[in-house]
Amino acid sequence: MSSDTNAPHPATDGMGGRGYYDSHSSAQKGAIHSQEERLRDAARALDLGGRELRIIDYGCGPGRNSMAAFHTVLDEVRRRRPDLPVVAMHNDQIGNDWNDLFANVRGPDGYLNDMDSIRAEASVGSFFGPVASAGVIDFGMSFAAAHWLDSAVRMPSPGSLFFCDLPEPAKGDIAAMAARDWSAFLKQRAREMKPGGMLVMDMLSAVPDADAPSGVAAGGAGLYRALGEVARDLADEGDVARDALDTFIFPVYCRLCDEISAPLAQDSALNDAFEVVELTNELLPMPTEEALKETGDTAAYAKAYAGFARAFTEATLTAGLFARSASNADAAKALANTFFDRLETLFATEPDKYGFAHRVATLVLRRK
Ligand SMILES: C[S@@+](CC[C@H](N)C(=O)[O-])C[C@H]1O[C@@H](n2cnc3c(N)ncnc32)[C@H](O)[C@@H]1O
Repeated sequence: MSSDTNAPHPATDGMGGRGYYDSHSSAQKGAIHSQEERLRDAARALDLGGRELRIIDYGCGPGRNSMAAFHTVLDEVRRRRPDLPVVAMHNDQIGNDWNDLFANVRGPDGYLNDMDSIRAEASVGSFFGPVASAGVIDFGMSFAAAHWLDSAVRMPSPGSLFFCDLPEPAKGDIAAMAARDWSAFLKQRAREMKPGGMLVMDMLSAVPDADAPSGVAAGGAGLYRALGEVARDLADEGDVARDALDTFIFPVYCRLCDEISAPLAQDSALNDAFEVVELTNELLPMPTEEALKETGDTAAYAKAYAGFARAFTEATLTAGLFARSASNADAAKALANTFFDRLETLFATEPDKYGFAHRVATLVLRRK
């Protein structure tokens, strides 16, 4: 296994800009909506006796989706301490669309629009490293982000770009890498959070599945297999460079609940730092699939599903495949357009084959 030295180092450098992610992420928005009661319960558990409260969203993206989560937490805080100054922090990679983020923060759904005494801050950098000072965070949240690996990876992987379809030893190598990342994520949060602070987060996950060749049913599996199919077709036609594809792994890892809880139980520093309030694994609805069931409109389904996929995979596919197959940035963009057109066609042709499997683990932690 090797970290990729030619591609940009982070596994992702943001979700693409100018509102594209915001308008193609109703699944992520729905998942955040489903966390409302957990967010309220966690906010009610906070000690609001201090002079200021700090809330952070790790892996915020352009932020429209998390405005609802900020409102939920702030509502609970304001109910008890209407005057308490709050710092709302938004963390993501440097390539995130920060203009979209701050447009959302002060837009019609943004908390600056209807709440006082809140200061918005950006925290720029990888959440696998420090993104806040020690002991300052009262409330952390993170949605649909912690399943991304820390860095791009290249290893021989002909025939698959999804972690759970890899043969050994590659599969074990990725699992070890994801375990190191997860432990690093938790250690950083242990350092940043105040005693009594709460962390509510979700991430794509997996469950054991004896019938699957890989032994697990992983979130997003249908989509990643479809991406692999389109990439292989384009490589057969000579548009995607074969050597780039044969060593490209999409840098996400969907953890089992046991993998999420392992470091919290086994690492004494983490065990001392956190109480696990809740850990659950659920299969959430996919708006694209619900709409297909209701209307039978396969063309609309394929368009919406391909748009959803493009919003969070294009930057990574461009760095890992398209830029390596094209002579310049315009040609890489043209290849991306072809790729996502083909993906849409594939979804329209076989609407039942590539269901996303929106499997999400939720973890609620209390800093001791
Ligand atoms: C699918 S988006 C989710 C965005 C938002 N939380 C939501 O639910 O709509 C994943 C986000 O995680 C961010 N991300 C991935 N790895 C990260 C890292 N190491 N540090 C900070 N952000 C990261 C990506 O840049 C992206 O904005």
